[in-house]
Amino acid sequence: MAMQGPYDQVAKGYVATRPQYPDEWFSKLSTLTSRHALAWDAGTGNGQAAIAIAEHYERVFATDTSEPMLKQGIPHPRVQYLYTLSSLSEDETVAMLGGENSVDLITVATAVHWFDIPKFYSIAKRVLRKPGGVIAVWTYTGMIGATPEFERILRRLREACKPYWKPGIQYVFEEYQNLPFPFESVGLGCEGQPAHLEMSREISFETFLSRLRTSSAVSTAKQNGVDLLTDDVVKEFETAWGGSDSVRTVKLKVFMLAGTVKA
Ligand SMILES: C[S@@+](CC[C@H](N)C(=O)[O-])C[C@H]1O[C@@H](n2cnc3c(N)ncnc32)[C@H](O)[C@@H]1O
Repeated sequence: MAMQGPYDQVAKGYVATRPQYPDEWFSKLSTLTSRHALAWDAGTGNGQAAIAIAEHYERVFATDTSEPMLKQGIPHPRVQYLYTLSSLSEDETVAMLGGENSVDLITVATAVHWFDIPKFYSIAKRVLRKPGGVIAVWTYTGMIGATPEFERILRRLREACKPYWKPGIQYVFEEYQNLPFPFESVGLGCEGQPAHLEMSREISFETFLSRLRTSSAVSTAKQNGVDLLTDDVVKEFETAWGGSDSVRTVKLKVFMLAGTVKA
């Protein structure tokens, strides 16, 4: 039996409310690899990054350890979704992905912090094409551009979430500055110095709330009988947001690291 992942209980709500990554990121990443035969999107969720990559690569493997998330996978003729048990050995994973030296681009969107990082990087180094293959990982956090009061309530909620943080999430709140990344820089961030990007999005209060509800710590607390989003907290957020009908443009801070296998 597979272990419960952080998004298994909330897969549908998760994919409905997460921001789409800009197409330019995928165009840019594709210019960094020498060939465009095979890409691998790990921790793919509903495959939003995988289908964007498929515009630039002949074939994409999209893997995830959560069946509920993969059930939300967006079909695409060049994307093959693969359910990967965490118990798969390194050798089995390498073979599943086509063997050593076979992958031109590896992407991990908002997920590498949940992985067994040493094992994942060891597999990545084996399957990446050498030379010319590139791995890129990124995450986003924060929400700038609502109101100061709103940001204060958000910070308070984050503190309340801490007892329910799963190992790995601290890398996100540290903005990937302490994330191990043992790869050679390709000019888009490097270990200890992620590239800073931004995504600007219009979001409704309802989408914002549902994003909070499906976040790993809030849903873990809920599974443990603790409601961090009580009616009172929701009301506070709503007032600070400017009413439940308001749509706001907010900025999400993004931290990206890309690299090749060190010679
Ligand atoms: C925050 S979601 C991101 C999904 C997608 N990449 C996106 O950006 O929309 C994290 C994903 O990582 C998956 N995940 C967690 N641990 C994993 C692991 N060890 N191996 C592969 N996927 C994993 C989860 O099931 C979930 O789908």
